[in-house]
Amino acid sequence: MTLLRGGSTDVWARLVADLFIERLNAQPGMRVCLPTGLTPVPIYDELADAVTAGKVSFARAEVFLLDEFGGVDPGDPGRCDQMLERFLLSRVDLPAARFHRLDLTGDIDMVCRAYEDAVGHGCDLALLGIGTNGHVGMNEPGASADSLTRRVSLAPDTIAASARYFGHDRLPTWGVTMGLGTLRRSREIWILASGAGKASIVRQTLHGPVTTAVPATQLREHPSVLLIADDEAAAGV
Ligand code: GLP
Repeated sequence: MTLLRGGSTDVWARLVADLFIERLNAQPGMRVCLPTGLTPVPIYDELADAVTAGKVSFARAEVFLLDEFGGVDPGDPGRCDQMLERFLLSRVDLPAARFHRLDLTGDIDMVCRAYEDAVGHGCDLALLGIGTNGHVGMNEPGASADSLTRRVSLAPDTIAASARYFGHDRLPTWGVTMGLGTLRRSREIWILASGAGKASIVRQTLHGPVTTAVPATQLREHPSVLLIADDEAAAGV
């Protein structure tokens, strides 16, 4: 795992976007896993502007949503698919059929198996945020390195933090996430971190013991993983 320091949040967002644009231009059919949360929002702004300016296109890409909240109304703006649509997909030229979302209305085990099949040998690139407890996607402490797409319970802190996405107090207690094993099949992984609130977990992820207690540490041995942090998030390293 290599730390890439991005500078101020603005500079960091441009750096990540520029790297992403370079990858997508080199491989227009790139299969990419994308996260939600608030961390990637400035990066998605940069990507949307780049598509508008004709610098890159998502027309042949394939996007896999990293995770989804369960028990939430289909149109709820706090849902992961709604957030990704709002912050990125509605502003770029990805054909709707090339967006893989997690529809949690049917048999959840079947949904998870179908998602694993769709991801297949793995994404070319997985972008991930990181929770303050080291969760990636919804792989909370205790998740094993070979875990696959599955239903998970959310940690109390994660439920509380999700209030930032939902405009009401009916917060989800479970979700479905790609597993650490699913993510480890990606050719390349970028963990994104911004802000002082992530400084401690960034330090632990890079230098703490590899442990299921801090899920992100279990990505450390992947052959191509970057932790891309802005100045504040990298301050404790
Ligand atoms: C959420 C999401 C993660 C996200 C993380 C950090 O619970 N399930 O995918 O990366 O927490 O969120 P934020 O970027 O808002 O800090």
